[in-house]
Amino acid sequence: MAALLCMVVFLLAPFLSHAADPDPLMDFCVADLGSSPTFANFPCKPASNVTSEDFFFDGLMNEGNTSNLFGSRVTPGNVLTFPALNMLGISMNRVDLAPNGLNPPHSHPRASESGVVIKGRVLVGFVTTGNVFYSKVLGPGQMFVIPRGLVHFQKNVGENKVVILTAFNSQNAGAVVLSTTLFDTNPSIPGHVLTQNFQVDSSIINGIQSNLGS
Ligand code: GLV
Ligand code: MN
Repeated sequence: MAALLCMVVFLLAPFLSHAADPDPLMDFCVADLGSSPTFANFPCKPASNVTSEDFFFDGLMNEGNTSNLFGSRVTPGNVLTFPALNMLGISMNRVDLAPNGLNPPHSHPRASESGVVIKGRVLVGFVTTGNVFYSKVLGPGQMFVIPRGLVHFQKNVGENKVVILTAFNSQNAGAVVLSTTLFDTNPSIPGHVLTQNFQVDSSIINGIQSNLGS
């Protein structure tokens, strides 16, 4: 029995290690957002209701509002905003950064990210699982890549606004933003966990929480 189990795991291993968004089995499957998703994909809208409009998306045309704590805005072009991406395993974002704005350290659990700077000067950095920090200041036309799951950020280090377009090998890459993941949850992570983790007293934790607006 154990031998059989080992054999099954051995045979499945290549498939498991290459698991990603599933390959499409049809030309298209525009998501019916009114239904609940089954696994990663939404069920398809009936083909008879699909029009040209389904395959075009204006959502990344406009500047995002950066009047917030971080001076940044990420506008998603993923399956939830552009349902024709359903089942295709790709998506894009627009990132706007005001001067000095920061797209705060975050990671994407389901995708690698590539990006191209459209406007401005931006410091792009990421950290490996071995805590090595890689970074570079980029200008228009320059590209970067962030391997799946690694913590990264973009910061405007120029005098003008920054625009970046980012692309993902998932229709819904997900984002774990470190600051809010730890300090702005519902309900809150118990204070003693945070004070012990950061080796500080609770006034510092409370200060961070109130700075983040929670
Ligand atoms: C940038 O890091 C993005 O997630 O769009
Ligand atoms: Mn990102």
